[in-house]
Amino acid sequence: MNILAIESSCDETAAAVVRDRFEILSNVINTQIDIHKEYGGVVPEIASRKHIENISVVVDRAIIDAGLSKSDIDAVAVTYGPGLVGALLVGVSYAKAFAYALNKPLIPVHHIKGHISANYLENPQLKPPFICLVASGGHSHIVRVDSYCDYTALARTRDDAAGEAFDKVSRVLGFGYPGGPAIQKAAEQGNPYAIDFPRVNMGKDGFDFSFSGVKTAVLNYIHNAEQKGEKINKYDVAASFQEAVIDVLSRHLISCARANGIERLALAGGVAANVPLRERVSQLAKAEGMEFYFPRLELCTDNAAMIGCAAFAEFERGRLGDMSLNAMPNLSIED
Ligand code: KG4
Ligand code: ZN
Repeated sequence: MNILAIESSCDETAAAVVRDRFEILSNVINTQIDIHKEYGGVVPEIASRKHIENISVVVDRAIIDAGLSKSDIDAVAVTYGPGLVGALLVGVSYAKAFAYALNKPLIPVHHIKGHISANYLENPQLKPPFICLVASGGHSHIVRVDSYCDYTALARTRDDAAGEAFDKVSRVLGFGYPGGPAIQKAAEQGNPYAIDFPRVNMGKDGFDFSFSGVKTAVLNYIHNAEQKGEKINKYDVAASFQEAVIDVLSRHLISCARANGIERLALAGGVAANVPLRERVSQLAKAEGMEFYFPRLELCTDNAAMIGCAAFAEFERGRLGDMSLNAMPNLSIED
């Protein structure tokens, strides 16, 4: 079965063709990063407009790259939430029209289920149950995955997402957008233990996250130094900030898995592209005797192949959409 998948929840216009859950026939991504860079972050109105300009070219390219024609497509999948409403609407409207014209099923997909499913594309042998840390520009969750379609959020951020904190700190340090890769690079030249930025544990079991504290601590550190006329070492700030975030993300993931009696871990979302985070979780998992899975870099950040993979589970349980499908900017993973 060939699923054409469309993703437009943020600043990537993406389309892919996935065959039989695991095989990526094509994976086309048109990123708007260079446009949003100028503004230091994603401008929703510009994102929607660019999606409209690019979507038909990206979808056509995905079908051509797959070596197929439109008549070979068996179903059309689309991210319908969460994300920026105007951006989501472009993908949803296009997918509805495409499915209608081809007279094929329409499969609505949750963006975060897509991120988690990137792990199956990388490691088809991975089977639930496992515990997945999902950290992106808009989300920071720890999710228990009990089957291809059963997801339970065990922990979440109370305020900012991890990726959001990376983006903000990078902006104030002058390293640009997107912040994650820029901070990772700058951190290579800094000392991760130079500044002791706060680590916050929240929630009943202490698994919830809060990243606004560490973000504010970095801003205060910079402003205090400025007021005293002191020069800061930007690379030490980047490395110490990154260390604080990695420390919290990795410890919470391991503790959550232990508390749930699950010995299989996975990473997902843009922040999962962070190499020191992967290395830390890998070390901790090894020490605990846990299995650890993560997608290759291009499957961590937004793409449509992950949406195509997740769509198979939705299709199997009969969760199809129709022409009334709408964008759901605040969709929960448990919906
Ligand atoms: O999953 P994603 O592409 O889009 C959302 O669904 O939000 O994630 C984008 C986020 C951005 O905040 C970006 O700074 C962060 O992922 N990111 C990283 C790295 N690469 C991307 N964060 C830390 N280290 C990285 N190497
Ligand atoms: Zn994403």
